[in-house]
Order: sequence, then structure tokens, then C-alpha cells
Amino acid sequence: MTHARQHRIQVVAHRGASEDAPEHTLAAYKKAIEDGADALECDVRLTADGHLVCVHDRRVNRTSNGRGAVSALELADLAALDFGSWKARDEAPDWEFGADDRADTSVLTLERLLELVADAGRRVELAIETKHPTRWAGQVEERLLLLLKRFGLDAPASAADSPVRVMSFSARSLHRVRAASPTLPTVYLTQFLSPRLRDGRLPAGIRIAGPSLRIVRSHPGYVERLKRAGHQVHVWTVNEPEDVDLCVELGIDAIITNRPGPVLRRLGR
Ligand code: G3P
Ligand code: CA
Repeated sequence: MTHARQHRIQVVAHRGASEDAPEHTLAAYKKAIEDGADALECDVRLTADGHLVCVHDRRVNRTSNGRGAVSALELADLAALDFGSWKARDEAPDWEFGADDRADTSVLTLERLLELVADAGRRVELAIETKHPTRWAGQVEERLLLLLKRFGLDAPASAADSPVRVMSFSARSLHRVRAASPTLPTVYLTQFLSPRLRDGRLPAGIRIAGPSLRIVRSHPGYVERLKRAGHQVHVWTVNEPEDVDLCVELGIDAIITNRPGPVLRRLGR
């Protein structure tokens, strides 16, 4: 028997519906909501003038027509850039980019993304990943929690009720979040397993494991050990039908994918 009928797997749009539209843009997140994604994943970085923006790479070179590190640019510099055109050029020639899309393909602030989610008309969760948290010595988490507070999301009654969770490869970043907001769920992302992690143990206080698909595939029994230790398991980045099926078999709690529409269909939703 599989776990398919036992619990509903959450489908999380990785950087938005990033196969179809340019990652981390409003266009990609609108598409993910339209596709029926349960949650949206985004990476956040601090600009030189202290704004949290949704950008994956340290530099803007790959996903915009500009150059330079996010941390060295101000929000106004980023707002002048085009974060959309590269998609049609490099990855998705079919992606329609019209004049109406321009507002949806400028740099996306986390604040704007929170507004989008608040106006979605249904529950859409947010999985926010802190990038380069060591460089800023706590400022990323501090700004993040201040922003969440403005939306009434920083101190959920319980982790289970929270529509927002914070993810990171940095346990230190997650501990900062937990110290300030103990009920906000945290996800420890991993792409390599230390012997301790291999046993199914996570850094103290963290309840959700976020292993890569490669780990899940290459370490039989790992998910079961995590589950036995009482952890939820959120896997990234799951795009292929056979990998969706594997996640169902293993009883994974959340699938993080660039293709929320096809994944939902594969799950029969
Ligand atoms: O959702 C976790 C995943 O996004 C981590 O890897 O490099 O895509 O941020 P990355
Ligand atoms: Ca990420």
C-alpha cells in the first residue's frame, strides 16, 4: 500500500511556476497560483539599502539584463532591470512576453509577494529560503521577521497553522528565526548528508527536513528514518512524473517543483 490516500502532498511552486515563466517574478507566482499550487517557494536576499528581494543567485547576471551582486545594488537599481526577457531567450522560447507583462517581470520584493498571497482568494502558503544569511549576520532574518509581522505572519499560534515557513541550508539562520519566533516552522535544507543527518537527525528544534531529490533517490531508508524521528519531509526539486510517484510511495509531505500544474495532475488533482 502506498501513502497516496493517507495524506495530501503539498505542491510547492519552486521560484513560482518557473518552468513556464521567469523564476521569481510576479508572472511566475501568478501562474503558480492559477495552476493551483498549494504553496510558493522563494529565495530572499538583502539589497544594499536593506530590502528583501526574491532572487536566487548572488548576482543578477543570469536572470536580468543587469550585472552585479544583489547585496551591492539598491532596490532602485534593481527596479530598472528586466528580469523577464532572459527566459524566452535562454530557456522557454514559447514564453509570451508582452507589454502587459513588464510590471510582472521587474524585480520582485518579498513585500509584493506577500501582498500577492494575501490577495490570492484562497490559502496559499509561502516557503521562504534565506540566502547568504552569514554575510549579513542576522539582518536577513531580522528584516524577514519585521516584514512578516506587518502581515501578521511572524508568530503563528502553532507551527501546524502557519501559512509561512522559513527554509535554509544554514542551521544558524534557522536558529535565529526560531529564537525570535519559536512557532514559525523551519525547514533544514540539505544536499549532502553527514553521518548524523543520515541517521535521521536534524539540528536541534527543527522539525522539517528538506533533502534534495538526489539524496532521497540515493539513500534508501533515509525518508523512513526521518519520518520515524517525527520529521516532515519536503523534497526539491521534483519535476519528472516518476519522481512524483516515488515521493508518493515514500509518503513525502511536500514536493517542491518548477512545474506545479503537471505535478498536480500527476497527483490526480
Ligand atoms: O526549495 C529548496 C531549493 O530551492 C534549494 O535549492 O538552489 O534552488 O535554492 P536552490
Ligand atoms: Ca530556493
